[in-house]
Amino acid sequence: MTDTDIKKGLAGVVVDYTAVSKVNPDTNSLLYRGYPVQELAATQSVEAVAHLLWTGELPTGQQLATLREAERENRALQPDVKAAIDLIPLDAHPMDEVRTAVSVIGARETRGTLNVMDAVGTPQQNLERSTRLFGELPAIVAYGQRRRRGLEPVEARDDLDYAANFLWLAFGEEADEVVVDAFNRSMILYAEHSFNASTFTARVITSTLSDLYSAVVGAIGALKGPLHGGANEAVLHIFDEIGSAENVSAWLDTALTEKRKIMGFGHRVYKRGDSRVPTMKAALDTLVAHYDRPDVAALYDALEAEFVARKGIYPNLDYPSGPAYNLIGFDTLTFTPLFVAARVVGWTAHIMEQQASNALIRPLSAYNGPDERHIEGYVPDTSTI
Ligand code: SDX
Repeated sequence: MTDTDIKKGLAGVVVDYTAVSKVNPDTNSLLYRGYPVQELAATQSVEAVAHLLWTGELPTGQQLATLREAERENRALQPDVKAAIDLIPLDAHPMDEVRTAVSVIGARETRGTLNVMDAVGTPQQNLERSTRLFGELPAIVAYGQRRRRGLEPVEARDDLDYAANFLWLAFGEEADEVVVDAFNRSMILYAEHSFNASTFTARVITSTLSDLYSAVVGAIGALKGPLHGGANEAVLHIFDEIGSAENVSAWLDTALTEKRKIMGFGHRVYKRGDSRVPTMKAALDTLVAHYDRPDVAALYDALEAEFVARKGIYPNLDYPSGPAYNLIGFDTLTFTPLFVAARVVGWTAHIMEQQASNALIRPLSAYNGPDERHIEGYVPDTSTI
């Protein structure tokens, strides 16, 4: 075994097949079950894309109506979940609220399966569980933001589709169509991205025949990290540090001297730009115009131009989505929970795919610890200080 045999971070390692999505860095493209994500974001609702990712096909009118009905039936913030969230300190990170909420839902939805072999569920049960989680998460994310603002939760609106209802739950008012459209596009772009760290975490947990909720809880833990989902929140912290476009150059001088990672830039797979960025940037541009915030666009463009020129490292999806969510009015702390609400679709699609063709995921390691030794040679140091 030599160092070159070790693929740290599994960089470049192909570990399994997936039919859910195709990330192609050579063509800088992303296909959801064969459809370019740009086309889906421009024409579909996130509900229709959820059906596509879960089942492999875009829904018929009846299938979409059925999915929408099931999602609406699960929009309410359940008392057990609200009680669990209310136990979490207001100054804990909201990703801990979301992680806890899914854990409570899992305990509720798998109750009675004391034979652990039963927890994994049938394919139909897991499709229903996926739909219920997709329906429940917006109220959980919205409540987390409202409680930190000292506000009570609002009742879901069945006359609104998923994206519009999500914004209603968060802000207690109907969002303008241009805002709903931009938010819907962001949810589609965030929904799925092959074997990213959180999705692979979900597949590892699923490979032991553990249940869907345990896999989603693990995925939430992985997504919280700033090298992964937490980056969209970190982008706003950077924007707040820089302040305005004029300060970018001096700020970058310092940041790069300190060898800081510039959040929202770079990607393990895409090395010449993230295929989703143009679509999300276009959505950000509509929000900049809608809210009349040319200063945001100026700062965004200045930092991108300067960092790409200096390091040749391109923006990822988190770079445009952070400012977009800020303009819509979400607290920065809510950004990564929004990522959870979208990515739960991809996670559960992969969980069901792993269940359908499972093998326990258990890689090898190369040992570089002490050579074999034996306890009789061990003489404890009994001296006292
Ligand atoms: C997501 O995998 C997915 O699909 C994830 C995701 C999804 O949809 O699920 O796309 C979502 O997680 C997007 C990424 C969000 N994370 C960030 O924006 C955090 C900042 N980015 C970096 O930490 C980094 O780019 C990674 C972690 C995303 C990817 O890094 P790699 O591929 O492991 O490469 P690396 O960290 O080894 O970097 C290679 C070089 C290093 O320089 P050297 O140490 O060799 O001199 O490039 C530098 C890095 O320091 N580099 C950066 C940088 N990204 C890479 N330097 C400064 N700022 C950056 N953002």
